[in-house]
Amino acid sequence: MPRKIVSLSESHIDSVIRIEDDSFLEPWKFTDFVNVLGLNSGDNIAVIIDDVLVGYTFAEIEHDRIYISNMAVAEVYRRKGIASMMLDYYKIRLTQLNKDILYATVRESDLRLQMFFKKNGFLYVESLRDLCETVKEDTYVFEYVKRMRI
Ligand SMILES: CC(C)(COP(=O)(O)OP(=O)(O)OC[C@H]1O[C@@H](n2cnc3c(N)ncnc32)[C@H](O)[C@@H]1OP(=O)(O)O)[C@@H](O)C(=O)NCCC(=O)NCCS
Repeated sequence: MPRKIVSLSESHIDSVIRIEDDSFLEPWKFTDFVNVLGLNSGDNIAVIIDDVLVGYTFAEIEHDRIYISNMAVAEVYRRKGIASMMLDYYKIRLTQLNKDILYATVRESDLRLQMFFKKNGFLYVESLRDLCETVKEDTYVFEYVKRMRI
């Protein structure tokens, strides 16, 4: 099935919220999405298949890196490479924006997500204590570092 990546806009929020609510115990709400879409530093994308939004990623462009702040794929479309395709988009953005690092945070208990990032070339770099107020567990930082051309 042909998949295309598009820039996220407010017209996509209803579809995003449906996937978000199915994917997270503490989903972002409508106002969270509107606020993040309003940030100039955002580079937010969706994957569309047959006119249906099947996955999305919110990312922030920082000084020398790109931060993946939220990512999800609709349940029936998982394990088909859609989230990896979105990471590939940001790996290309590293070069286009002259940044070096793509990173994300993962709960220590979320082994599935850690496997996902490892499969996509990310490495564990550090552990953050009590980052999340509601859940008492460490948060791991995973980084993908752009390969230098010699
Ligand atoms: C994490 C998530 C975005 C991955 O999306 P996806 O499109 O299914 O991912 P891909 O198909 O590109 O990659 C799949 C790889 O990730 C890992 N993976 C993903 N789900 C897994 C699972 N349930 N069990 C084990 N490994 C898993 C595996 O390495 C897998 O490769 P394989 O299928 O060859 O074994 C999706 O599962 C999701 O939306 N989860 C709920 C929300 C979430 O946790 N978001 C991340 C916040 S940053």
